[in-house]
Amino acid sequence: MRRYGALQAEALSAVARRLVAPLPDSPVVMDVGCGAGAMSVPLVSALREHGGGVLVLVDATPELLDAACAAARAESDGAVSVKPVLADLSAEDPLSFTGPVELIWGSRVVHHLPDQLRGVKRLAGALAPGGWLALAEGGLETRFLPWDLGVGEPGLQDRLAAARASWFTSMRENMPGSVRLPVGWNVALADAGLGEVSAFSFVVDHPAPAKQSVRDWAVDRLTWLTDVTGPLLHAADRAALRRLLNPSDSEYVGAREDVFLLETDTVHLGRKR
Ligand SMILES: C[S@@+](CC[C@H](N)C(=O)[O-])C[C@H]1O[C@@H](n2cnc3c(N)ncnc32)[C@H](O)[C@@H]1O
Repeated sequence: MRRYGALQAEALSAVARRLVAPLPDSPVVMDVGCGAGAMSVPLVSALREHGGGVLVLVDATPELLDAACAAARAESDGAVSVKPVLADLSAEDPLSFTGPVELIWGSRVVHHLPDQLRGVKRLAGALAPGGWLALAEGGLETRFLPWDLGVGEPGLQDRLAAARASWFTSMRENMPGSVRLPVGWNVALADAGLGEVSAFSFVVDHPAPAKQSVRDWAVDRLTWLTDVTGPLLHAADRAALRRLLNPSDSEYVGAREDVFLLETDTVHLGRKR
């Protein structure tokens, strides 16, 4: 997560500045499902530039919350107060963490909640009047491999994407108490009672030949994709993945010059009336 966060840092810094700019003085901002702090650090930095404020970090995993808190405090320089809250967003009301807040950022966390609309409504309920909810739940499929890797059949990235989509559907279906969200995020934000619903997208672009940290991230990503999609893939693709993930193999993804990272994420915004 830290490695990925470092690669997203430049793009997320611009997003954080854009989200913090319209807030009043000394705002309270919440990063829900903060993970290792990929956005917590840019939010602290944006709040510092804004003259200070409070950043509330929320996560259900203590190790990740600790990592995010340490990184955010290191960036705060005393101007921003960082408050960690260990909580399960599917069970606890975020309003109880700190009272009404001016901005909530939630990246790739709402899909972990059994009832996503209920989760969005709870987040909306924690906003102060005029406050913003910003949700980032993905965008275009992240690309990092060339079409023909010279190992197995061309098009592995697309077959991995299809298998990942199947895994995601099963993950949602098998979640206890799972409720489908049969609409897009703009509709969910409006259904949660928010107005001024809009969206913008941002790009994380590390073209080939990329720095070593991109190749290391590609190894992480391919390892994770192999784990979640393994049984859904053809044996020939699984064999290709074994080669791509073997540090002793000539085709090892961690040493290839043609690996890159191209990601496009969409931020969906709604405002409390
Ligand atoms: C995919 S990670 C995203 C992390 C970070 N927001 C990012 O975009 O890099 C999902 C995060 O949500 C947290 N999470 C998952 N379910 C949660 C829940 N029910 N309550 C609070 N946090 C949760 C996980 O611990 C993890 O840190």
